[in-house]
This record gives sequence, structure tokens and C-alpha cells, in this order.
Amino acid sequence: MLLFVLVLSLVAQACSASPTTQQPNKKTDQHLKSIFILAGQSNMAGRGGVVNDTTTGIATCDGVVPPECRPNPSVFRLNVNLTWVKASEPLHADIDVEKTNGIGPGMAFANAVLANHSSTVGQIGLVPCAIGGTNITQWRRGSFLYNQMIRRAKASLQNGGSIRALLWYQGESDTASREDALSYKNRLETLFGDVRLDLQSPDLPIIQVALASGYEATLIEIVREAQLGIDLLNVRTVDAKGLPLEPDGLHLTTPAQVELGKMLADAYLQFLPIAIR
Ligand SMILES: *[C@@H]1O[C@H](CO)[C@@H](O)[C@H](O)[C@H]1NC(C)=O
Ligand SMILES: *[C@@H]1O[C@H](CO)[C@@H](O)[C@H](O)[C@H]1NC(C)=O
Ligand SMILES: *[C@@H]1O[C@H](CO)[C@@H](O)[C@H](O)[C@H]1NC(C)=O
Ligand SMILES: *[C@@H]1O[C@H](CO)[C@@H](O)[C@H](O)[C@H]1NC(C)=O
Repeated sequence: MLLFVLVLSLVAQACSASPTTQQPNKKTDQHLKSIFILAGQSNMAGRGGVVNDTTTGIATCDGVVPPECRPNPSVFRLNVNLTWVKASEPLHADIDVEKTNGIGPGMAFANAVLANHSSTVGQIGLVPCAIGGTNITQWRRGSFLYNQMIRRAKASLQNGGSIRALLWYQGESDTASREDALSYKNRLETLFGDVRLDLQSPDLPIIQVALASGYEATLIEIVREAQLGIDLLNVRTVDAKGLPLEPDGLHLTTPAQVELGKMLADAYLQFLPIAIR
């Protein structure tokens, strides 16, 4: 009898583990997922490999997916319909729908975290929320983007798991006006506090990216100072300055995004207790 039950359960597992299915896997959804929210503007959504044809004005993606960004059976993404699906680039294709999406930091981040810590991290669930061209005022509490991020974050928890961190890369749009650049620090701290409050996670780890680019050099420096100078518990900052940019001078290239993903992973792993690092 015992043997019979054992054989049955083996068959059931083999069937639910079909690697080709895009359907959510009920069994794995109940498994503890490490969930990460991806938010901000275009460089979080991903423009690596996206080129604008200056004659036609049409943006196209070269479709190159480096090994660091390839799908992994343990990495899922919450799609626009709040369903977990196997993750693949471009992660924001059904979220940042007005733009042509390319490679962002998300998959490289997830793969690097798993490469270092698959045993303690388990499965990874990515919750893409970034929208290109948005300023921080558009992300303030109660705004459409804010509400959408909180709604998606809460929905991501429906089948178990826990939100491990918010990954935030935004601010380029706040480097066009002096007033916005000078207000950035306050707005950023308020935003992080609000997210923690609404997710009922007062110590939620936040990893933000200090700008690599923007519109006005002096204002980029003001926003970077705000980012690098932030003094909130459990907020870490990785610096994208100097990473290679697309010819538009604004967007990180695919290799830059791979590098950024690894930097974000290293920063996240620093949050883990020393005993399991
Ligand atoms: C392409 O051009 C559009 C319109 O000017 C702009 O919004 C977008 O950021 C550009 N994208 C890239 C990757 O250069
Ligand atoms: C989300 O749901 C809508 C409405 O049912 C459907 O048209 C769309 O294809 C779905 N998108 C994805 C990415 O599943
Ligand atoms: C932010 O972006 C919105 C939409 O583009 C714009 O209306 C607004 O003036 C921008 N800046 C601020 C500080 O709200
Ligand atoms: C993660 O692993 C890579 C190599 O696989 C290594 O270079 C990196 O330092 C590791 N990071 C941490 C935080 O352990």
C-alpha cells in the first residue's frame, strides 16, 4: 500500500514538473517564494539592446539575451494579469506597454542570487512595475503608479512567499528641472516610507540605483547626492555611474544591465544573515 502511494506521488510530481508549460505551477506556488519588486523608470524596465532608427523613428530590440539573463526554472514573474509565469526577458513587456522593452537588470539579478544562494532563496518571484519616462512625483502615494505597484505586490503574496526587497531605479526624469532635483531627497524618503507602511513591512530591504545618466549634468549630481546620501535603515545603494550607455546617452546597454543585476544581487546578499551568506 505504501509503495503504491509512493509511486502515485512520483507520477504526480513528474507531470506537474513539465518544463515547457507557461501555466502557473500550483505545486510550486505553494512553495516559499522570495519575491522582489522591480520599480522605477526605463532603466529598470530595461532598454538594453533597444535602438532607435533615426530615419524611421522606430525603436527595435536586437533580441540578444546574454547567458546571465536567460530563463531559469526557479525564476517566475508576475504578469500583467497577476499570474505567475516563467520569467524571461523583456520582463516588462506587458507592463511598460507604451515602450519598446529590452534587457533590464531583473533576470541577471535573479540568476546571480540563485547562483550564490539557491538553497536559502528557493524560488524567485519578480514583480515588474517600472514605467519609462516617469518622475518621482508620478510615484507618490495614491498615484496610479504607486497604487499599481502596491496592488501587484500584494497580489504576489496570494499563493505564499514573502517580499524580500524593493529594487528601485528612477530619477532621470527628475534631472530636467532644478526644483525637481532639489526636491528629490525628500520625495524619495517619503516614497520609501510609504511603501513600507502600505506593505506592512517597516524594515523592508530597499536597494536603489544611483543614476548613471539623466538630462542636465549639474542636476544629475544633485539627484545622485540625494540617492547616495540617503540615511534610512535597510536601504542600500548601488552606483550605476560609469556603466556603458546606449547611443542615446540615457539607457544602460545590455552588458551594463548584466553588471547592474550582479551589483544588485551582491547588495541583496549583504542583507542575509552572515551565518548563511
Ligand atoms: C527612442 O526614442 C523615443 C522617442 O524619442 C524615446 O522615448 C526613447 O527613450 C528612445 N529609446 C531609446 C532606447 O533610445
Ligand atoms: C491578460 O488578460 C487579458 C484579458 O483577459 C488578455 O487579453 C491578455 O492577453 C492577458 N495578458 C497576458 C500577458 O496574459
Ligand atoms: C512629472 O511628470 C508629470 C507627467 O509627465 C508632469 O505633469 C509633471 O509636471 C512632472 N513633474 C512634477 C514635479 O510633477
Ligand atoms: C556570487 O557568485 C559570484 C560567482 O558565481 C561571485 O563572483 C560573487 O562574489 C558572489 N557574491 C556573493 C555576495 O557571494
